[in-house]
Amino acid sequence: MKIIDCKVNHLTEPLGYKMDRLVFSYRVSEAAGKFQSAARIRVSLHADMREPVYDSGITENIDSLAHAVDMALAPRCRYYWDVYVRSDAGGEEAHSAVNSFETGKRDEPWQGRFITCTADETRHPIFIRDIALKDRVAAARLYICGLGLYEARINGVKVGNEYLTPYLNNYDQWLQYQTFDVTGLLAGDSRLSVELGNGWYKGRYGFHPEKPSYADDFRLLAELRIRYQDGSKDVIGTDADWLVTCGQTVASDIYDGEMFDATLPPTEPIQATPCDDDMADKLSERLSLPVTVHEAIEPLSIIKTPAGETVLDMGQNFSGIFRFRVAAAAGERVRLYFGEILQEGNFYRDNLRSAKAEYTYISDGTECVLEPKFTFYGYRYVKVEGVPDLRKEDFRGLALYSDITPAGSLVTGHALINRLILNTMWGQKSNFLDVPTDCPQRDERMGWTGDAQVFCPTACFLADCHAFFRKYLYDIHSEQQDISGAVPHYIPSFCAQGTPDAGATCSVWGDAACIIPWTLYLYYGDRQILADQYPSMKAWVDYITRLDGDNHAWRDIFHFGDWLALDHPAGGDDQVFGGTDTGFIADVHYANSAKILAQAADVLGEDADSHFYTTLATRIMDDVRSEFYSATGRPCIDTQTGLLLSLRYNIVENREKIQKMLVDKLAESNDKLKTGFVGTPLLCNVLSECGLDDLAYKILLNEDYPGWLHTVKLGATTMWERWNSVNPDGSISSTGMNSLNHYAYGAIVDWLFRHAAGLNPCEDAPGFRAVVLKPMPHRELGFLDAAYESAAGRYELSWRLHDDDRLELNILIPFGCTAKLYLPHAPADVEIAGAAREGEAYVLTAGRYRVEYGMVGK
Ligand code: BGC
Repeated sequence: MKIIDCKVNHLTEPLGYKMDRLVFSYRVSEAAGKFQSAARIRVSLHADMREPVYDSGITENIDSLAHAVDMALAPRCRYYWDVYVRSDAGGEEAHSAVNSFETGKRDEPWQGRFITCTADETRHPIFIRDIALKDRVAAARLYICGLGLYEARINGVKVGNEYLTPYLNNYDQWLQYQTFDVTGLLAGDSRLSVELGNGWYKGRYGFHPEKPSYADDFRLLAELRIRYQDGSKDVIGTDADWLVTCGQTVASDIYDGEMFDATLPPTEPIQATPCDDDMADKLSERLSLPVTVHEAIEPLSIIKTPAGETVLDMGQNFSGIFRFRVAAAAGERVRLYFGEILQEGNFYRDNLRSAKAEYTYISDGTECVLEPKFTFYGYRYVKVEGVPDLRKEDFRGLALYSDITPAGSLVTGHALINRLILNTMWGQKSNFLDVPTDCPQRDERMGWTGDAQVFCPTACFLADCHAFFRKYLYDIHSEQQDISGAVPHYIPSFCAQGTPDAGATCSVWGDAACIIPWTLYLYYGDRQILADQYPSMKAWVDYITRLDGDNHAWRDIFHFGDWLALDHPAGGDDQVFGGTDTGFIADVHYANSAKILAQAADVLGEDADSHFYTTLATRIMDDVRSEFYSATGRPCIDTQTGLLLSLRYNIVENREKIQKMLVDKLAESNDKLKTGFVGTPLLCNVLSECGLDDLAYKILLNEDYPGWLHTVKLGATTMWERWNSVNPDGSISSTGMNSLNHYAYGAIVDWLFRHAAGLNPCEDAPGFRAVVLKPMPHRELGFLDAAYESAAGRYELSWRLHDDDRLELNILIPFGCTAKLYLPHAPADVEIAGAAREGEAYVLTAGRYRVEYGMVGK
């Protein structure tokens, strides 16, 4: 038996993260036993675990998914912790390795203040501090926040491996600082230098790009703490003693790219200037995960286009930067342009709208390796100018995204489905860059709440997203506080900027405030996320209730509705609205959010709230019934999405009737989908829940327009924003709003895990502690191998359809978990070694299972 994946607040060995509460978790593998019978968690200030400051004792009451500990933490302090587990197999026990976490500065004041550069230069400032070391360094930490973005170096070596620090949030409300262990970088007389870029803070960002998003000055706050081997200490904070020069980065912008002029000598250092308003009260330890390079992608080919351009084809659309070795003559310009698609064989980027997405380098004549510091691109193609002898080996695309650990994999015998899954994974990677964004390439790249909500279950199947979404949810809550509980369309929203869209809100998008926390609870089994978000969830539902008033005003405000669905009566390639009544969608989601809130209240023991919001949810659904259904329960809204909502939320009793209406509705369009952001994530799930798996498969496997595999067949390497983003002849359908890297429609991967593989989490045993397994084999897929590193442990589920209609199933259930397995098309007498029978279900506990039988009634 082994104890693995020991985490604090769902983070591995966190250094300098916000520790406003402590939740420990771990997983058990290679056990002979099936369940934990007792466990113990200890926390100590010492690596040998002596004199623990917390000791749970050996107890039955430790939940491996989430053990919350209430203890006071000191600033800048390293804590060690370990886990002991005993299983139900007599005498089996295990001790974890010793893990650690280290606090940041907590409430301690900063020794240093924000400084700025007063030089009248657009060239980016580099702040410098020379450090005379007094002895050999035992330990050193750098606490740092630089605005817009910063890159710190010690003796020329980059501090840490993160990009785009201090990350993206509403800077008017809070600022994150990072903590780095720099012990190994300090040697001899050392120089700490920090270059600043514009970033989201002072570059253009959002829908009002004519002005800086938050402020127009560079700022740096840093505190370097050194402990020497003789026990003495040094603390070096930013102050007027720091020097600042202007470097060779001449321009940087999230949308527009970067320009580096190596011919410019650094300016004469001048004294840094302390800022008047200190802003230090806004600082907090980080919640953002590190954004790092995850893949280095080799170009597929170099293309000479009909227009005579030289273009690198990376073979994959993704988001990130690049590393490019160049040797150009002094004064020569190298220019790179980034785009997602070729048009008529030529480089193209009109769908990026105003985002220039470029990189310019002016050579000083020496060979060098270029790598942007303060921008990122969403791209597959790079047009290269100024490099006559371009070689593939000189260029690497670097995929940048937040450190989300992969969790799920799913491979089938169907090549297009496999590519669809890969495209969805790339959609996630490309848009999980600190904030869940809509797209990574055009002048938007914003944290649209609706997109995040729609994709969240798929995201949690594909990767461990708890910590990633926790930061986003924290931001949602922060922003609600200034606008009476409303949830802005996108987070951060720059509300405090007084922009016209400040406080704009709508259903489905705003409902992210309830749906995402509940999804995280379901997938990770940690009630703390509900406790954290409870005020936010409540504020959202109460906001709707106030706005709704006595006249159902919520229905009547602007809602995006079934965004990008194909059934708007006016039609048209550029149409963005769907055909489903937006008031209906809004009210159903209002009731659903109230219901989720009531469920959260239940989990948290808020009984009065549970009763109140259950009653509210029931009343809203009653109102929905009386407004949108006939007296006999016939839906007035009979679009695909309308019928899907009816079934998904069980709004009326005559399910069979509505099911038939849905089947007929789909038949009207030859079983092709017309759904948008609301209906698409429901479509196959609802069909399967109605027992219509064959129809779900038919829609998924359709290779014509519109459908998932149609995009794959047209060569998509990521998910597209629109079903018709690219026409069958390869031409882009429109440029106003057309990204080739949006993840929302990747929501189908949730269905692949839950219905094709059949792995379903249960609300009454969240975190995959208990699951329902209902695999649904299909001849065209042939086989399916799924694995999922759930919060509770690793599940595996494989099915194979042999030629004679024999089905072979192989299943792994992790330690501490139970599953109810429903066999598809099985004769009544099938037995599974080691499993107990409970009606139609087989009850499985930890272990491997195999069953093979001839399918009946298929
Ligand atoms: C974004 C979306 C977003 C939408 C709002 C678009 O510009 O790219 O994905 O949800 O606006 O309707």
